[in-house]
Amino acid sequence: MKQFGGLFQSADWKMEKHVPVIECADKVKASEFFPVKVTLGKEIAHPNTTEYHIRWISVYFHPDGEKFTYQIGHFEFAAHGESVEGPDKSSIYTQHEVSLSMKTGKPGVIYASALCNIHGLWQSSKEIKMS
Ligand SMILES: [Fe+2]
Repeated sequence: MKQFGGLFQSADWKMEKHVPVIECADKVKASEFFPVKVTLGKEIAHPNTTEYHIRWISVYFHPDGEKFTYQIGHFEFAAHGESVEGPDKSSIYTQHEVSLSMKTGKPGVIYASALCNIHGLWQSSKEIKMS
């Protein structure tokens, strides 16, 4: 059976504009909320047009030693310049970046995934330790 996970591409975000960039503290305090920002195209901008854009970013957390992964948030980007006058005529765009707060009682790994409407699924991860 083909595995869905095999469709997710990854790379160095400094060299590849599709890779989600996860920004948060390397060490957090147990059970205290901390901010997490996920963006795309931080080094090399990704286009944001009606024809070519990022559709969504999803964020997950996998606590160390546990079997299952938790979804932290899913964010759809719904405005890409479309208008009754045609593509890229509205001047309204949602930028592909999200900010959230989360807490955990355990260290683990934050995973982010994103979908480009042309270039498919992308992923990245960041390890979170307890201070
Ligand atoms: Fe793309």
